[in-house]
This record gives sequence, structure tokens and C-alpha cells, in this order.
Amino acid sequence: MFFSKSLRFNTNTAWSNTSRAFFYLSRASKFNFTNSTFFPLFSFLLNFGLMKETVVSGIRSTGKLHLGNYYGAVKNFIKMQEEYNCYFFIADWHSLTTHPTPENLHGNIKNVLVDYLACGLNPEESTIYVQSDVPEIIELYLYLNMNAYLGELERATSFKDKVRGNPDNVNAGLLTYPVLMAADILIHKATKVPVGKDQEQHLEMARTFGNRFNRLYNQEYFPEPYAFSYTEKLVKVPGLDGKGKMGKSEGDANCIYLSDTPEAIRKKVSRAVTDSGPSEENQEKPEAIQNLFDLMKIVSPADTLNHFDDLYNKMAIRYGDFKKQLAEDMIIATDPVRERINDIVNDNDYLQKVARLGAEKARESAQKTIKEVRQLIGFKSF
Ligand code: TYM
Repeated sequence: MFFSKSLRFNTNTAWSNTSRAFFYLSRASKFNFTNSTFFPLFSFLLNFGLMKETVVSGIRSTGKLHLGNYYGAVKNFIKMQEEYNCYFFIADWHSLTTHPTPENLHGNIKNVLVDYLACGLNPEESTIYVQSDVPEIIELYLYLNMNAYLGELERATSFKDKVRGNPDNVNAGLLTYPVLMAADILIHKATKVPVGKDQEQHLEMARTFGNRFNRLYNQEYFPEPYAFSYTEKLVKVPGLDGKGKMGKSEGDANCIYLSDTPEAIRKKVSRAVTDSGPSEENQEKPEAIQNLFDLMKIVSPADTLNHFDDLYNKMAIRYGDFKKQLAEDMIIATDPVRERINDIVNDNDYLQKVARLGAEKARESAQKTIKEVRQLIGFKSF
């Protein structure tokens, strides 16, 4: 098994004693290593690998994870675990913007937790937690809301898309969604945020809110977070419906879930939108066809992609064969995850241990930030 269920801390990591000492010193001491006095020291430690950079990312609990979530976000999470100080969470408060019922809220949180672990998130390396277990995030959300302006929130692309897509549910939570997301990130003072292409604007807004806070209270307190991917560009995984990205809100037929059975994958791919085929050699591919090629680029070996690309360019492609190959490669990519999902899903003791440990570690970090933020804002206890 590539992850252990024992949840004992592995002290034998590559992390040096020096960096460990500084990490705990900065966490435990009353000194803030990121304020203006200590900023040069903080940068020095980061630059010379003596301290780990902090990473935060999350996924909304609105269903099971699909290939878009995996290749856009989770694949990076797995790779970042050893190198960075990682916080990965389940964004259950964010899911309330679309009004889940009490009956499906917990089940969806569990789905994401199980999928995270099945993909290879390791609770001994990363802090894995449920957002609503860390109430300090709401407090920071409130402070950041005081300096987030209606105009900039209304201009966010994701807000405009939601208004267009669901005009009967334009709630204030949707409007301030980017502020809650900024609070998620800034609460741990993260600098790297592994996300897909669709989240780029939210990261820009998180930098705006953090910088505005710093200017207001005259402190270099929050570092700037940036979207991150190990790939050359941020990833956008297309869906199967011929237009746009893979996403839960676009419907089940558009998504390949990591837990889908081979039969379900074959059926969905066979129904993916295509056309009547190329009418001239080397013609540009229409969006629906390009999307399927983009999916093949993600899940298949390069020579498979080149083979079908050549056939398309020579007008000799048979979409039936192309889709069959794509489905088989998707099955190969998701097989090990599906097996581990089945392994973990009924182990409620283990899931509880992971969530409790994660909440404890995340709160420790969040409480430290909130204490410092309160001081900066000017709250004093009597
Ligand atoms: P969510 O739940 O929509 O998606 C979770 C992650 O999956 C990525 N993703 C995709 N990447 C490539 N192609 C796709 N088709 C695709 N679909 C989804 C998303 O980019 C994202 O990285 N707002 C976030 C959740 C969130 C968050 C945060 C993320 C809340 N707070 C703080 C980072 C940091 C969201 O809606 O993700």
C-alpha cells in the first residue's frame, strides 16, 4: 500500500533539522517572521531551502472528483506534498452557494475526502481538513469583506457566469465567493495555490485583498499567493459535451468521475459529441473534436495521440476507434484510484481520524494568523 493508515508521524523526512527548528520557532514564538522586520530573514530561509513554502488548495464538496479536478488540481497536490508545507481542504462552505440539502451535504464531503486519499494525498505529509472545521476562516473572511468592493466582486467572471446560468439564485455568498477563497489561502499565508485555469482570476483577487490589508495596516503581513501547476500552463480539461470545460454543473454525461466503472466510462465516451468527420486534409479541428484530442493528450501516450492526429489530418479517422481508444486510456488512468476508493470508502474510523487530525493541525495554523490579524486591526482584550 502506498499510503499508511496508521497515521503515525513520519519524522524521518528529507526536511532538515534546521528548517524544522525555524518552522516551529516561527509557529510557536510571538515573532512574526513575515512582518517587515523579519521579512528579509524569512525570504533568506525560503530562498536557501531552510523553510518550506506554504501551499493551500481546496475542492468544493458538490459531488465526486472528475478528471478535470484530478489533472487541474489533485495531481499537483500529490507531487507537492514532500516539497512543501501543504494544506488541502474540502470547501464545504463554498458548496452552500448552490444550496445542498442536509441529506447530501455530509455525503459529498465524504466523497471528496475519500477521493483525495484514494488519489494519494497522505495525511502524514499534508494537512487534510474540512473547511467548516476551521471557524477562524470565517473571521478572516469577515475582515477581508470590509475591504472588498461591490464593483470588483460584480466584475468577477465566475460571478457573472453564475448570474447568467442561474438568475434565480444570485445570493450574497456567490458575490463574496472570491473573498472566502482569499481567506482560505491567506489564513495559512500560502504562496502557492495549485488550481486549474478557471481559478486564475480568483487568485488575482486573493492577492488584491491581501495587499489591500497589508497597505491598510501598514505591514507586509500576507505574502502574495499565485496559482501553480507543474505543467507549463494552468490546465483546462475539456468536457465530453463538445463545448467548454469538464465540470459537475455541466451534467454527469460531460464528466468522467474517478470512481466511474469501466462500463460507465465506455458509455459516456461513446456518446461524446463529434461531427461528420474532416472534409479536407489538415483542416483545423472544430471545438468538439479538439476537446476529445485534448483529453487524449492528457490520458494517452504521445504515440497514440500522434497516430489519431495523423489519421485526422489524412481524413482517414474513424471516430468509433478513436473514442474506443480514448475510453480504454481513461480506464487505465482511473483504475488504481477506483480500486483505492472501494478500499477506503467504508473505513469510517480511518476517515474520522484523518479529518480530526487535519482539523487540529489546520486550526493551530489558523489561530496563530487570526491572533496576529486581530492585533494588527487593533483589537485588544480587556
Ligand atoms: P472546484 O471545486 O470547482 O474545482 C476544484 C479544482 O479543480 C479544478 N478544476 C479543473 N481544472 C482543469 N479543468 C477542469 N475542467 C476543471 N474543473 C475543475 C479547479 O480549477 C480547482 O483547482 N473555488 C474553488 C475551490 C476553492 C479553493 C479555495 C481553491 C475554495 N477555496 C482556495 C484553491 C484555494 C473551486 O470552485 O474549485
